[in-house]
Amino acid sequence: MRCTVFGTGYLGATHAACMAELGHDVLGVDIDPGKVAKLSAGEVPFYEPGLAEVLRRNIEAGRLQFTTSYTEAAAFADLHFLGVGTPQKKGEYAADLRHVHSVIDTLAPLLDRPAVIVGKSTVPVGTAAELGARARALAPAGDTVEVAWNPEFLREGFAVQDTLHPDRMVLGVDRDRPGSVETQLRQLYAPLLAEDIPFLVTDLATAELVKVSANAFLATKISFINAISEVCEATGADVTQLADALGYDARIGRRFLNAGLGFGGGCLPKDIRAFMARAGELGANQALHFLREVDSINMRRRTRMVELAAQVCGGSLLGANVAVLGAAFKPESDDVRDSPALNVAGMMQLHGAVVSVYDPKALDNSRRLFPTLNYATSVAEACENADAVLVLTEWAEFAALKPDDLAGVVRARVMVDGRNCLDAQQWRNAGWVYRGLGRG
Ligand code: UDX
Repeated sequence: MRCTVFGTGYLGATHAACMAELGHDVLGVDIDPGKVAKLSAGEVPFYEPGLAEVLRRNIEAGRLQFTTSYTEAAAFADLHFLGVGTPQKKGEYAADLRHVHSVIDTLAPLLDRPAVIVGKSTVPVGTAAELGARARALAPAGDTVEVAWNPEFLREGFAVQDTLHPDRMVLGVDRDRPGSVETQLRQLYAPLLAEDIPFLVTDLATAELVKVSANAFLATKISFINAISEVCEATGADVTQLADALGYDARIGRRFLNAGLGFGGGCLPKDIRAFMARAGELGANQALHFLREVDSINMRRRTRMVELAAQVCGGSLLGANVAVLGAAFKPESDDVRDSPALNVAGMMQLHGAVVSVYDPKALDNSRRLFPTLNYATSVAEACENADAVLVLTEWAEFAALKPDDLAGVVRARVMVDGRNCLDAQQWRNAGWVYRGLGRG
């Protein structure tokens, strides 16, 4: 089959490459000529394990191309995916839909044959119906243009695996306009569906809501354990053992119960805020009041970390040398959008600390966002003469650190584990002060 994918960020580039991997002819479309040039040359503009190989293999096979031309895209296929970003609006909770609107407004006037537009981006409920009406009004093909929603649940760091082996597929269709999208997508995704993956067909609003509800649930689960972690700190209990014990209950499950510095990134924080904003517009704001608390528990972890850092540095961060290990919002990613680690590093600098940051992949992105922090090229360099070492992103490289690796490097043997990824006893036995969030 042939399809296009509009937007070549984490979502769009992965979807385009993976659809080509399934054997389809794919054209990725982006307004940024720099990104298009890089991708065309087989280079991924961000760090995503395994994606470069899939990209190159399919470019070489002639199944995957990239362009900035909407005219080319409209001529290339009649199945178009929408994978552009829906960031948080500046100074507001609501999602900024300008990229989604811009694709529809530019593409629709070029559609002179029956076409299907399938949204994959995370959008406020009601967006798909509105985009459908907009596209049909603008397209020469008019009523034969169909808009459907097929939300994407991929995680950064596992994007290829999640796209090629999803837990489930959700497809929202316009119930008032029976069309061909379900048949087309079942055919396109046939190799994936062969693995007996549930394929749920819903109305448009339900499909849009599935995605934001899933992210709201995950965020709530993390903030739940972080709230319990605050109580653990107040009583001397250990939140990691508590989470293990909770997790054995199959109704609860252990995943997403890792207490620590909380969630960040380009999805969970902005998605729960946009969800609250949309519920408010719909007159259902009371229903999602609890997400405000989810958000504030999450943000409180960051200030708590700064307090803990001050405490271990003798009561004040002024003039203290602090090593920060980790800058990406999570391991296996170079994404620093709303990164808890960088946020904490920035706050500590405001409190007068000299902060040295090391991350295996996210240093370039960090420099752009926080140019005044010091960046080191290795763990040892970041930890030189440190009064405290803070692990703020649980990269495997940091989780594998041994007390002896740093003993001769730091000024004071103080380890603060912001992600509860180290063996507390091992560090204490080696004579270090070990502190973790929610660990007594
Ligand atoms: C998330 C959703 O998981 C994915 O389904 C959706 O499509 C996009 O948003 P992602 O943002 O890539 O994916 O990261 P995820 O692995 O969900 O982690 C989000 C944040 O939560 C990270 O900052 C992570 O460190 C934090 N987290 C995760 C915790 O603090 N504790 C946990 O137990 C799990």
